[in-house]
Amino acid sequence: MVNLLAPGPVPVLKEISEAQTREMITHRSEEFSVLYKDLVMRLRKYFNAHEAYVITGSGALGLETLVLNLLTKEDKVVCFPNGEFGDHQATTVGVYANAIVHRGEDGKGWNLERVKSQIDQSNARAIAIVYNETSMGVKNQIKDICKYAKSKGMLTIVDGISAWPGTEFDMKEYHVDAFVTGSQKGIAAPPGMALIGLSQEAVEVFSKRTTIPSYYCDLRRHKKRFEKDCQTPNTPAVSLFWALQKAFDVLDQKGGVSGAVKRHHEASEHTRSRLAKMGFEMIAEKGFESNTVTGFVAKSEEQAKTIKSRLSKEFGIKIVGARGKFEKTGLRIAHMGNFELKNIDAALDAIEKIIK
Ligand SMILES: Cc1ncc(COP(=O)(O)O)c(C=O)c1O
Repeated sequence: MVNLLAPGPVPVLKEISEAQTREMITHRSEEFSVLYKDLVMRLRKYFNAHEAYVITGSGALGLETLVLNLLTKEDKVVCFPNGEFGDHQATTVGVYANAIVHRGEDGKGWNLERVKSQIDQSNARAIAIVYNETSMGVKNQIKDICKYAKSKGMLTIVDGISAWPGTEFDMKEYHVDAFVTGSQKGIAAPPGMALIGLSQEAVEVFSKRTTIPSYYCDLRRHKKRFEKDCQTPNTPAVSLFWALQKAFDVLDQKGGVSGAVKRHHEASEHTRSRLAKMGFEMIAEKGFESNTVTGFVAKSEEQAKTIKSRLSKEFGIKIVGARGKFEKTGLRIAHMGNFELKNIDAALDAIEKIIK
């Protein structure tokens, strides 16, 4: 079996995988309503969200759903990308609204001090930011940033696709209006579902709109159908929803969201400390290190290639390269989902052997 340490899709536990093989049911049944209601109510609790929905589609569809329901071409939206996924977020915003983009440096994180003047000068309706920039392993300080943006009357839209549940988060405490995560990341279900959370203000914004530039992603339809009978407006990926329910059970058994944050945080510290002892530099600036994925820099492009290919061929361990400025020399080890520390250590032991 491959020891998959890529930042999503992550390995799926057998019990979660097997939950998909239940006998098919119609999504217009009482049984489906019970399943979907359970998912939605648990998500509301996990995120501390006013409303939550599961959208059949990948994380990017969830992000697009948030953007197109909350913003229009008249809205200025200040975006702070600092990596590939931030760039994608800014592009998505640009499709539906007026994106003002402040590109950060690869590997450097955003904190309030670094975004404050751009927020002040923007006169924007909203801010869009990525919580965990997966392409580098950088965690942005969204709590302070969103709190400040909110104090200026802005809507706050956060891509938490690779952050949750391994990174501390609470929608109300973090002043976040719209949040998305992907099923293939920290919750460690199969790919194909976007989990979204909304504040009361966000719900009021899309509920008041007369036109929304999508049919499938129109949250007014999702809300209406959920309020009618706890179902989805279109046919959902029913089998995946069973898997997600099992993944939530596993999360609860392992100490809930706070348990996940602790596990991920400890694994990230452990990974960084072992890599640093081997002489590697981390990609993430100090104080902005991701809980779920560690990016580090090899001594040369050749060494990066050798580590990646020998890990795969000789040890059956799959890691991926970093992106952007670190595309050639950067490597990433994910400690995301229901990982076991011994698998992370196996990769670190193997890297130690390879570089000797
Ligand atoms: C931070 C972030 N945003 C967006 C995406 C895109 O998600 P998906 O591939 O599920 O559409 C990813 C995927 O890795 C991601 O890590």
